[in-house]
Amino acid sequence: MKNYSKSSVIKAPLKSRIFRIVSQQAALKNVRAFVIGGYVRDYVLKRPTTDIDIVVEGDGMELALAVASVLNVNTSLFRNFGTAMLRYRGMEIEFVGARKESYRSDSRKPLVKNGTVEDDQKRRDFTINAMAFSLQENDYGTLTDPFNGLKDLRDKIIRTPLDPDTTFSDDPLRMIRAIRFATQLEFIIDSDSFASITRNTARIHIVSQERITAELQKIMASRKPSIGFNLLEESGLLSIILPQVASLRGVETLEGKGHKENFSHTMEVLDNVAFASDNIWLRWAALLHDVGKPPTKHFDKEAGWTFHGHDFIGSKMVPTIFRELKLPLGNEMKYVRKLVQLHLRPIALVNEVSDSGVRRLLFDAGEDIDDLMLLCRADITSKNPKTVKRHMENFNLVSQKLIEVEEKDAIRNFQPPISGEIIMKTYGLSPCREVGLIKDFIKEAILDGKIGNNFDEAWKLMKQRATELGISEASA
Ligand code: CTP
Repeated sequence: MKNYSKSSVIKAPLKSRIFRIVSQQAALKNVRAFVIGGYVRDYVLKRPTTDIDIVVEGDGMELALAVASVLNVNTSLFRNFGTAMLRYRGMEIEFVGARKESYRSDSRKPLVKNGTVEDDQKRRDFTINAMAFSLQENDYGTLTDPFNGLKDLRDKIIRTPLDPDTTFSDDPLRMIRAIRFATQLEFIIDSDSFASITRNTARIHIVSQERITAELQKIMASRKPSIGFNLLEESGLLSIILPQVASLRGVETLEGKGHKENFSHTMEVLDNVAFASDNIWLRWAALLHDVGKPPTKHFDKEAGWTFHGHDFIGSKMVPTIFRELKLPLGNEMKYVRKLVQLHLRPIALVNEVSDSGVRRLLFDAGEDIDDLMLLCRADITSKNPKTVKRHMENFNLVSQKLIEVEEKDAIRNFQPPISGEIIMKTYGLSPCREVGLIKDFIKEAILDGKIGNNFDEAWKLMKQRATELGISEASA
C-alpha cells in the first residue's frame, strides 16, 4: 500500500500569477505562507474552485495589502478577525494569520493567538481540509500533510485531525459540515468522528441558523441529498434542526397493521426529484411533501392507518419551517407550499380522469404544473416493482390527458376572457361583490367545461348571470 503521508507525494506547480506574487511578497516580509484548506483538497480531487485560502505565519492583513498593491486591486480588511480578502481574475483570495486557538464552551468565537502553520492545521475541521501547499522558494508547491489527509481523500473518508470531541466541540457547525462533505463528495464519515457527532448534537444550539441553513442548502444541491438527510437523522441532528422531517421516521403497528415508513419514503422521493431536476426548491418540496403525515396520522379499525388532509396540514407547516430555517419567505416559500398542498391531486385523478378535474388541476397549479407532475411521479415508490409499474401506467394516462386538455383549452396561464373591468364597464359598477360573483361564475363554467375558454361564450354567460342577479345594462 502506498504511503500517502509523505509530504513529497504531491508537488503542485501552482503556476497562477497570484501564487508567485504571494510567494515573493511573503519572502520580502520574511514570513512563511501556504495555500491551505479547500483549494488543496479540490486540487487533488480535480474539482474546479475559485476560492483560495492563504495562511501566513505572521500578519495576514499586511501580506494581503502588499499583494494587492502589486496586483493593483482593492483589499477588504476584516480587522476583528485579522483576515483580508481580495479578488483577482475571478478568484477570491483570503489571507489569514496562522492561529493557535482555544474555544470557550459557550460560544463559537475563538480566543486567538499567533501560531505556526502546524498549529493552524491542527485546528482545522477535517484531515482532507488540513493540507497545505508551501509557497516558500525552496520547496514551492510541496504538500504539507501532517494528518494523512491525502490518504483519507483517496480512501474517501471524512475524519477530524484531532480527537473528534475536541474538533466538534470547538466549532459544532463542523458536525453538519462533516455530513455536508460526506454528501457532496460521497465520502464516508469515519466511525469515531460519527460517534462523536451523535454525542455532541446538543452543541449545535450555539450555531447560528444562517450557517446551519447554508450547509443544508449545500446538502440539498448535491447529487444525492438523501445521503446527508439520512446522516442527519441517524446522528440525531435532524430532530434538533428539522424536527418536522425527523418525526416522519418510524412505523407504528396496531392490530397487526403497519403503515409506510415515511422517512425512507421521503428520502426516495427526494432522490428521485434530485435525479430529474436541479431546482433546489422542488427538492425542498420533495423533502417536505409528507410533513403533514405525523400530525394527521389516525388508526381506523376498518381503513387501517390514514393520513387524511396531510397535504393541507403539510402546506400549512411550510411557512413555519421556512421561517425557522431562515429560508426566503417570498416566491420560493409559496412555490413549496403550493406543491405540498397539491401533491396528491394528480394521482387522485387516476381513478377518474375527467376533463374538468384536469382543468381544475391545471388552473390551480398554473405555471408549476410540470414541477408538480415531476414531484408526483417521484412520489410513486413501493418495494413491489409491479405496484410501481401499475401506478406509473395510470399516472401516464393522467399526464397524457393533461397535455390534451392543455392543448385544447389553454388553462395553464388562464386569464378569464371577461375581466372585472369589462363587467364593471358594461354595467356601470364600481368594484363590488356582484363583479366577483359574475367573474367566478364564468371561471367555474369554463373549468367545468360548460362553456369554452373564449370571449363570446363568456360574454353570453355574463349577461345571463347579471340578469339572474338583477343587474341590467339599462339600470347602469
Ligand atoms: N474550516 C474549519 N472549520 C470550519 C470552517 C472552515 O476548519 N467550521 C477550514 C477548513 O480548513 C476549510 C477552510 O477553513 O477547508 C475553508 O472553509 P470554507 O471556505 O468554508 O470551506 P471549503 O473547505 O473551502 O469548502 P467549500 O468551498 O465547499 O465550502
